[in-house]
Amino acid sequence: MSFRLQPAAPARPNRCQLFGPASNTKLFAKMAASAADVINIDLEDSVAPSDKDMARANAIEAINSIDWGKKTLSVRINSLDTPYWYRDVVDLLEQAGERLDQIMIPKVGCAEDIYAVDALVTAIEAAKGRKKRIAFEVIIESAAGIAHVEAIAAASPRLEAMSLGAADFAASMGMQTTGIGGTQENYYMLHEGQKHWSDPWHWAQAAIVAACRTHGVLPVDGPFGDFSDDEGYIAQAKRSATLGMVGKWAIHPKQIGLANDVFTPSEEAVAEAREILAAMEQAKANGEGATVYKGRLVDIASIKQAEVIVAQAELIAAS
Ligand code: COA
Ligand code: MG
Repeated sequence: MSFRLQPAAPARPNRCQLFGPASNTKLFAKMAASAADVINIDLEDSVAPSDKDMARANAIEAINSIDWGKKTLSVRINSLDTPYWYRDVVDLLEQAGERLDQIMIPKVGCAEDIYAVDALVTAIEAAKGRKKRIAFEVIIESAAGIAHVEAIAAASPRLEAMSLGAADFAASMGMQTTGIGGTQENYYMLHEGQKHWSDPWHWAQAAIVAACRTHGVLPVDGPFGDFSDDEGYIAQAKRSATLGMVGKWAIHPKQIGLANDVFTPSEEAVAEAREILAAMEQAKANGEGATVYKGRLVDIASIKQAEVIVAQAELIAAS
């Protein structure tokens, strides 16, 4: 461990982020009634350019009138390369009530993108006397975003979560893919004539997790486009969870339960983690730093691994 301690990420459940276009008002009540931990009302790419003003007004109305329960309520604004984003921020901060928790900034390419939004949000909060500080989440979905991911993770104390946006990321990187996340047909190793598929999203995910963990931000896996493919979604989500991500987006309600299942530590995993902690307590009492659990080595590092699982389970149980 460095002399600098790793900061804790926000203690909130973030297993599933459910998206819905702000132009489709009939979805709002269904989103509020869902089992998703986070709601993302979208002003960006699921809203046609001609509907931007209408969608913004819908989002504000929905924030102010619908009972969102204990969910984290977030709005995805338009990206900084559009003429829409400043109006998104101004209208949301001036007209949406204190129920709004968070703004999602898409297509972030450098820390200064966050600085710009932070300056605007900070000024409006002060001018309007808003009491609750608006949090930020960002999407890494470009070559510049992944190249500058660590500076982006450090850019603002408002930043609470960071997602990988696979489709825009792939396009920006010039990747020869069409699917939004998941297995890509041409990304395989050949061994004795057999194809073994690899994960083309792996390194970007790992880079995001490292940047997030360094700066106390929640790393989240983004969309999985083929909502008919439950097995594919589960496989992608399990890989993300294994790498340290805390949750995944849902772009259709049938993906919510899948995400909640994968990102809630199983009873068996929690029981095993507690047994490892107990074994290490016993080892400590015996003056040992390492011991054997089910035929394998556990040591002081195992305590930290087990504590990650127990802490996540306790956080979810408390929510
Ligand atoms: N949130 C809540 N409920 C949703 C929903 C969502 N995102 N998407 C669909 N539903 C509801 C439908 O209204 C329908 O409800 P009903 O049974 O009461 O009629 C039910 O779930 C089944 O929907 P289905 O008919 O399978 O899908 P659809 O054709 O209505 O919509 C999409 C499909 C993809 C257009 C829609 O799911 C959607 O807009 N998803 C979000 C897209 C988005 O936000 N993208 C940006 C982030 S990548
Ligand atoms: Mg995108």
